[in-house]
Amino acid sequence: MIERFGDGRDWFYERRLGLFVHWGLYAVTAWHEQEQWRRGVSRRDYGRLIDRFNPVRFDPEAWLDLAQAAGMEYITFTTKHHDGFCLWDTDQTDFKVTRSPYGRDVLRLLADACHRRGVPLCLYYSVVDWRHPNYPNQGRSHELSGPQVGDDPDLPAYLAFLKAQVRELCTRYGEIHGFWWDMNVTGVEDTAINAMIRELQPNAVINNRGFDAGDFGTPERDYDEQKGEVRVYDRLTEHCQSIGRESWGYRADEDYYAERHLMQSIADALGKGANYLLNVGPRADGAMPAEAERMLRRIGAWYHGVREAFEGADPVSDLIDNRDVLLTRRGDTFYVILARSPYLDRVLLRPFQSMPKRSVLLNTGAEVEARVEFVPTQFLEHGNREPHLRLRALPVNQMTDTVLVIRLEFDGPPAIGVHGS
Ligand code: GLC
Repeated sequence: MIERFGDGRDWFYERRLGLFVHWGLYAVTAWHEQEQWRRGVSRRDYGRLIDRFNPVRFDPEAWLDLAQAAGMEYITFTTKHHDGFCLWDTDQTDFKVTRSPYGRDVLRLLADACHRRGVPLCLYYSVVDWRHPNYPNQGRSHELSGPQVGDDPDLPAYLAFLKAQVRELCTRYGEIHGFWWDMNVTGVEDTAINAMIRELQPNAVINNRGFDAGDFGTPERDYDEQKGEVRVYDRLTEHCQSIGRESWGYRADEDYYAERHLMQSIADALGKGANYLLNVGPRADGAMPAEAERMLRRIGAWYHGVREAFEGADPVSDLIDNRDVLLTRRGDTFYVILARSPYLDRVLLRPFQSMPKRSVLLNTGAEVEARVEFVPTQFLEHGNREPHLRLRALPVNQMTDTVLVIRLEFDGPPAIGVHGS
């Protein structure tokens, strides 16, 4: 089990599912949050989008209502993405939301709403910057190919700017629960930067994409090939994913993931002890895209039914040798999570040898048939006649658009035979 911090950062162990929000000027053209870079838009042309940013429908309460409907309990918000546009009233640059026609400090409005509701707010901040004249763009990952006309690459000067911005973010918006760095390709390692955040915001958890290893790892989308192998995370981890394949920012023509894929991805991460940050890019007018609303509400309908399998439960998949399912535990209650599409209507929990007093499919509340018995294929594989716990006749053909989770209530600690027997 991962040891807790023993301080205010422990909120992160209690709140498992979060809403990631990528929002900025890129929502205006609705193509991709890195449009400037990926489509080779000049800094000048891109910068003109500021005159078209007027999110009159922005209502942080509506965002938080949606997050709540989805079962999300914290929010991580892009204060500055790679394009350098700032969603708060920073003193360090004019490339900021308060210079747009909207004129209001978006972060202030969001932070106030979060504080009113007691929703932890975490701040995303990109180290890479395509706007600031001192940022040394050199064509490394997610950088412009080189300095632009009029630039003055000067890393120490840029870092002074960055630190001044981080200080603003950590001193002007009340309590901040997390800092989410992205794209530090500068090669700079400097523990003093996170130390400053920790001093100003002691309850903030910090990710590993900044200037030191931080508090938690950040596997992204489905890129991490090791992911399938891990059964229980041994480091604090927050998996991140967006509702669509192409973009994190609002994309009008987005290719959305199947909802079951997202449910499986959420169940996989949470069942292994990680947190999960699911991203939506709001439209330029401030409203959440209609499809995102529908998806989050449907995912939430599922999540609300099964969340007890994750919240306050420890990942214990190492106790079983069935690699098709995940297992979590709270006291003498265990949860079986079918995070992969099932190919059988049974789950064999070897080497569990006790009969639960109750087995319930959390998705419907229906009783699940359980037996402790010796089944033929176990003999063929292992040459023994050990009985093991078998959950049978699961509705795998009836419930194909969801992730099944089963609660097993034992009378006292269950008997668990020799692992791999
Ligand atoms: C990737 C993307 C970036 C996005 C981030 C979120 O790094 O390049 O645009 O903000 O993922 O994790």
